[in-house]
Amino acid sequence: DKLFEVLKKYGQEHIIKHIDSLSKSEKDIFLKNLSSMNLELVFNLHDHFSKIKDLPVKKHREIKPHPIIDIEKLRARKNEILPAGEECIRKGETAVMIVAGGQGSRLGYPYPKGMYPISPVKGKSLFHIFAEKVCALSLKYKVSIPLLIMTNPETNQMIKDFFRENKFFGLDEKNVFFFNQEVLPSLTPDRKLIIKDRTTIFANPDGHGGSLKAVWKSGLIDRLESHGIKRIFYCHIDNPLVNVNDPVFLGWHIKEDAEFSLKVTKKRNAEEKVGHFVMADGGPSIIEYIEFPDELRNKRDEKGNLVFWAGSIGIHFIETSFIRKLNKDGFALPYHRQVKKTKLNDKEIEVWKFETFVFDALPFADRVCCVETLREEEFAPLKNKEGEDSPEEVKKAMINFYRKELTEAGIKVSPDVKIEISPLCDLEALAHKLKGEEIKEDRYIE
Ligand code: UD1
Repeated sequence: DKLFEVLKKYGQEHIIKHIDSLSKSEKDIFLKNLSSMNLELVFNLHDHFSKIKDLPVKKHREIKPHPIIDIEKLRARKNEILPAGEECIRKGETAVMIVAGGQGSRLGYPYPKGMYPISPVKGKSLFHIFAEKVCALSLKYKVSIPLLIMTNPETNQMIKDFFRENKFFGLDEKNVFFFNQEVLPSLTPDRKLIIKDRTTIFANPDGHGGSLKAVWKSGLIDRLESHGIKRIFYCHIDNPLVNVNDPVFLGWHIKEDAEFSLKVTKKRNAEEKVGHFVMADGGPSIIEYIEFPDELRNKRDEKGNLVFWAGSIGIHFIETSFIRKLNKDGFALPYHRQVKKTKLNDKEIEVWKFETFVFDALPFADRVCCVETLREEEFAPLKNKEGEDSPEEVKKAMINFYRKELTEAGIKVSPDVKIEISPLCDLEALAHKLKGEEIKEDRYIE
């Protein structure tokens, strides 16, 4: 009754008509599906966004660059900062959370993006690479580090099966936790729910910000805290170069007593589609590329460098107590509207999607800490089928990174050789074994 009341109140007669046309079993599925979503929330969000005329650019009184711990400072103080980070990992106070609930539509891969075989020699999937990184950390610090994977209800089972079929890539099954983010209906520009097929409506995962709600609602925060976990390393599934649980980053996060920390890298160019880390109206904030004013995007200093150079790469440390705080009086993060084109029965239609972004947690944090990282060491996201951020580019970036690691370990590699290093590899031992011998052929290094 409540559902029908809401449908009537918000003018969704086409849905009521559709329900009437369904068989008993179809109706059960459809109603279950519909009542699992927060319809009133999206109708109200639609009303809210319809009233705002100057979207997507939100007006701020003042946008300035935010102080950042840059590469020089990081390097200069590494030895002083590292021990606190390592100590925290060793004491078992960290967990790793990967958000993998996105739809990955730009890549056009028919399975969840984490299953994409990306590594340049072995063709390991993104999930495989991340699982091995966590495994390597657990071995190095002699502690079990929980791995949390956020999925959406549509991909959850497939991802769990993928882990199971691959024996959790060497991790202890008991330390891997899958949890679902919520899903919200997408709407037409004139506020109508969209029938996808007889038993479902068009819907979308509620954005990666939903991870901060879902991880808490699922009871995982309570569970982690009861095992002594104090902070979570957060990253996106699409970037195989992530330095998972980076102890130097963690050391800074602890030193600054931050509730929420982030890594940024220099934008490739003014137009790169990354969020901008700035000081907006006196507080830290990330302004998404489509919402960032054009005149600031291109602003340069006297040396010709971009003033707003700091692109967010979706890597954070987040205190569990802060996640609790964000959920205390209802979920705190604001919703954004994305206007997307999508295909329905071979026809292109425009839909409004509502999502929250994890970085909108920044203004709620009492203290934040931001460190710079180098693109070639930590950012090669898999986004598109072709061109920028395509599989081809990501593989190249991975090979270049591995080459750099080998060179730094004193191992010679011939040019044009394809190499891949397992996250579990001990480079020092390898250098010792190779005794100056050069790697001359494509090689997977274990
Ligand atoms: C995102 C950031 C951008 C940042 C860039 C770095 C937004 C709006 N912008 O851009 O500031 O510079 O990453 O790569 O996010 N995801 C979910 N559930 C969702 C939506 C996304 O888990 O509902 C996950 C995806 O699986 C992926 C990650 O979040 O792992 C990033 O999502 P994506 O939509 O690709 O972000 P971008 O728009 O590329």
